[in-house]
Amino acid sequence: MSTGTIVVAAGSGTRLGAQRPKALVDLDGQPIIVHAVRGVLDVSAIEQVVVVAPSACLEEVTDLVGGDRVTVVAGGAERTDSVAAGLAALERLQPDLSVVLVHDAARCLTPVAVFERVLDAVEGGAAAAIPGVAVVDTIKVVDGSGRVVATPERSALRAVQTPQGFAADVLRRAHASGVGATDDAALVESLGLDVVVVPGDARALKITVPEDLMTARRMLRDGS
Ligand code: CTP
Ligand code: MG
Repeated sequence: MSTGTIVVAAGSGTRLGAQRPKALVDLDGQPIIVHAVRGVLDVSAIEQVVVVAPSACLEEVTDLVGGDRVTVVAGGAERTDSVAAGLAALERLQPDLSVVLVHDAARCLTPVAVFERVLDAVEGGAAAAIPGVAVVDTIKVVDGSGRVVATPERSALRAVQTPQGFAADVLRRAHASGVGATDDAALVESLGLDVVVVPGDARALKITVPEDLMTARRMLRDGS
């Protein structure tokens, strides 16, 4: 069994509104990508890490995180393109690749235990496994004019995080299917395969808007 991880970090971070791509924005003295890669390297079962960076920052990201277990490649216009670039690179590095994790650099404080729960589920035979947490708000489904068309039962809803884990051949098939999706697990669902949700963690928050950066800073300082 050979395990690899793709860390997607090629986004521009429009909603964060910083002067730099999000992966290079400082969080308590280190760029977000440095925190993210450090977290992945703490997971001993992960043999290779491919970081997918904005093409304009390849050299800078390589200087920051490149190394023995870490290769940096250029990403694409959409997250799916960046995942595909990461998968191609991982397959060159690990011809016997059997389990792949896809992780958002923006979720740079994800605890090791979350990675391990996802890995355990895929190694135990799941086609795909993703971390999720219960939602606290009531969620409404609305139509184009904002009118409520449904109220899903809250207890059945999960807000999902990364890393998303896949049997390597499942992720390959999902990407070969040509269906567009914002999330790789959705591609697997569209193949009719089961995706299981394992417990996520509040610390796996995705840094998206400036307030999230403050929340992450507080988490780091509290050591929580
Ligand atoms: N990502 C990527 N390639 C893209 C778009 C996104 O690798 N073309 C990555 C981001 O770097 C991030 C993760 O996917 O780690 C989740 O995306 P998101 O939080 O939306 O980040 P951005 O796309 O950078 O932010 P925004 O949507 O606000 O521009
Ligand atoms: Mg985005």
